[in-house]
Amino acid sequence: MQTDPRRTGATRLGTPLSPNATRVMLLGAGELGKEVIIALQRLGVEVIAVDRYANAPGHQVAHRAHVIDMTDAAALRALVEKEQPHLIVPEIEAIATEALADIESAGLATVIPTARATQLTMNREGIRRLAAEELGLPTSPYAFAQSLDEMKAAIAKIGFPCVVKPVMSSSGKGQSVLKSDADVEPAWNYAMAGGRVNHGRVIVEGFIDFEYEITQLTVRAADPASGETQTYFCDPIGHVQVAGDYVESWQPQAMSAAALAKSRDVAAKVVTALGGRGLFGVELFVRGDDVWFSEVSPRPHDTGLVTLATQRFSEFELHARAILGLPVDTALRAPGASAVIYGGLDEAGIAFEGVAEALAVPGADLRLFGKPESFVKRRMGVALATGADTGEARERAKLAASKVRPVSAR
Ligand SMILES: Nc1ncnc2c1ncn2[C@@H]1O[C@H](COP(=O)(O)OP(=O)(O)OP(=O)(O)O)[C@@H](O)[C@H]1O
Ligand SMILES: [Mg+2]
Repeated sequence: MQTDPRRTGATRLGTPLSPNATRVMLLGAGELGKEVIIALQRLGVEVIAVDRYANAPGHQVAHRAHVIDMTDAAALRALVEKEQPHLIVPEIEAIATEALADIESAGLATVIPTARATQLTMNREGIRRLAAEELGLPTSPYAFAQSLDEMKAAIAKIGFPCVVKPVMSSSGKGQSVLKSDADVEPAWNYAMAGGRVNHGRVIVEGFIDFEYEITQLTVRAADPASGETQTYFCDPIGHVQVAGDYVESWQPQAMSAAALAKSRDVAAKVVTALGGRGLFGVELFVRGDDVWFSEVSPRPHDTGLVTLATQRFSEFELHARAILGLPVDTALRAPGASAVIYGGLDEAGIAFEGVAEALAVPGADLRLFGKPESFVKRRMGVALATGADTGEARERAKLAASKVRPVSAR
């Protein structure tokens, strides 16, 4: 059986909604997926958006929308058999990745970047062991624990301060920083309540007293001259995290030449080990010339929303191009920043005031994601800005974000 070239790289692109369409299925259709879908739509790709709730942001801009439980392997397989996408693009971690592995090995579709990468990165243990033990990359000291007693033993080895995280969680859920013995039991209980799937397993990490942290967006894409997959780097993105959630990011983050070189070396090693094509967000901690690997998303990264303002091609356009087998250009256009807009209230169908004032800020732009329901701490939009430097851009982005007021529409 010959593999359909649409699964391995775009020798040509078809017409959407016709038999020769290039079909891409997004698993997860939040704000990041929405931008990937828009990028694909611009290239005439047929897009199927899947999420666990109706009218997700990406549903609103795709050719077809489906609502399924993506952790249900049978439901996922059935949908892939029905839609027959050439490429499957996971946007979130909480997916039945064993179904993706079966789909990939049955040759039904290409999983981006690879089914193995989605499996390794959805579990902190998989990616940490790969990075530290197989690739020998610098990381925080760490140990895994399956019970409160094991966790105490791990902490005795690693010491305070340390960080405890469920192995299956994201956005800081179930995560605590521990300073003393008094913090141990609450951290265990919090991790057990906050894990995505309660495996009762946590990672204990030594606390890295970093100066700043970055996302090194790294792309595996076809080199136009040879057609071979090559590694490309975007300028580093600096960001601020509050309770495991990003609130502000900017690009480029100033770094020493040595730290930049080490970051790229670490990023190249990780993405090469994960393989496939696409854009990756490599999270790194930096102090002086020292760099620690933290984790990696085999997909666009939330802190990379800033690239909608700063790069010739945003991280979403880079991902779209890379997965289609097309060349990429990671050039920076201007220094810029992003600032998150939270819902501020728990309500469906809210409204936004102050949009005109936000867009009147020099250099500012806005994305409102169109999420059907707002929560106090749900990311509902992002303000973007360029500036003469990242300092000016950050001020502008924060000012623009502060002008947008989510209000009740009742
Ligand atoms: N070992 C550590 N030392 C110091 N700070 C840490 C450590 N681990 C995590 N942090 C801080 O907590 C943030 C969130 O951690 P991490 O990225 O592991 O969690 P996450 O739940 O995967 O978050 P997200 O999904 O938003 O990336 C980091 O960006 C960093 O600011
Ligand atoms: Mg992270």
